[in-house]
Amino acid sequence: MRLERFELERHQSEWEHRVEYNLSESGVEPLHIRELLDSQTLNDQLLDIQLGYPQTNGTISLREAISYHYPGTTAEHILATTGGAEANFVVTWWLCHENPTRDEFVFMVPNYMQIGGIWKNLGGKIIPFKLEMVDGEWVPDINGLESTVSKKTAAIAICTPNNPTGKILSETDLRTIIDIARKYDVWVVSDEIYRVAELREHKAPSINGLYEKALITSSLSKAYGLPGLRLGWVVCPSPEVARELWTYSDYTTICPAKVSDWLATHALQSDVQAKIEKRTREVVNRNWATMERWIASHSDLLSAIAPEAAAICFIKLKDGIDSLELTKRLLQEKSVLISPGEHFEMPGFIRVGFGSEQEYLEPALERIGELLNEYR
Ligand SMILES: Cc1ncc(COP(=O)(O)O)c(C=O)c1O
Repeated sequence: MRLERFELERHQSEWEHRVEYNLSESGVEPLHIRELLDSQTLNDQLLDIQLGYPQTNGTISLREAISYHYPGTTAEHILATTGGAEANFVVTWWLCHENPTRDEFVFMVPNYMQIGGIWKNLGGKIIPFKLEMVDGEWVPDINGLESTVSKKTAAIAICTPNNPTGKILSETDLRTIIDIARKYDVWVVSDEIYRVAELREHKAPSINGLYEKALITSSLSKAYGLPGLRLGWVVCPSPEVARELWTYSDYTTICPAKVSDWLATHALQSDVQAKIEKRTREVVNRNWATMERWIASHSDLLSAIAPEAAAICFIKLKDGIDSLELTKRLLQEKSVLISPGEHFEMPGFIRVGFGSEQEYLEPALERIGELLNEYR
């Protein structure tokens, strides 16, 4: 059997290092190691790391640092992984074996299509749980969800804050989803990788502590601006589940990279974490203002619901503009990379990342504007 390709990732991988302007990234401008380690002592500690294997599910200090951000959990509830991608992979693979009589996966759409793609490639069936545009808001189709969840459902997978819309599910939404899941003893997988990149003051609600069958996946790649560390995690409802998932990561990457484990532990210390969070919030708020102005200046062709978190905006194109064609032309004619709505099962939209430096973002948007002029 040939795997169905993960189009979003392949498209980005092929072009992101070849274009003059890459606006396909969904996180904030990555940090340099120098910005993380601001003392000679820390630099020396980094250079003194012996490059052996670390504890394979993540060092205790790393897992403690992660669990600190999830009240009620301990290091024993955490599995550290190589990026959020591995976290999503082991969770989906585990769910496939956890109850083999359940072959349906209810998957929020639009979404980062990884979990849905893995489930399909494992031979399972995907049922969409839609986020819909209603009166200028992204709204989860709870009635639709209720009618699709059954004893055949292995899990409901949500992404909040959502990629690509930046929508944050409220605690009421989360509790309603949990009530539906509980009725059929269904797992809920919550990809919360964009938490901490909220445009508003308060953090997005987490599913942590709300449900005994919830698995949270996340990483330092987006809100922390540290994708090069490839450091992610799963928060499990019990140490037993965390140990089961560990069995799966023994077969994938064995362990996170040792240097990443150390740098991630440092990044998650409360004083360092607070500085990173402040920087992220500043970037998303300042750059969203630029994006919003730019969208408004093309309001005859573009419309968007403001994201509540994440450095991405999912923009609706005027009817008649082909999102795939526009994306291709931007690449070829303007050397600008963005993601077409097709990569989220939503043709007619484009996803534009705005987490980069202003001096980079503004000319990139100008180039998109130049091409858009031809659609007037
Ligand atoms: C919602 C979501 N989950 C997971 C990932 C993968 O994250 P990582 O780079 O940490 O593997 C991404 C990457 O874009 C994402 O958007």
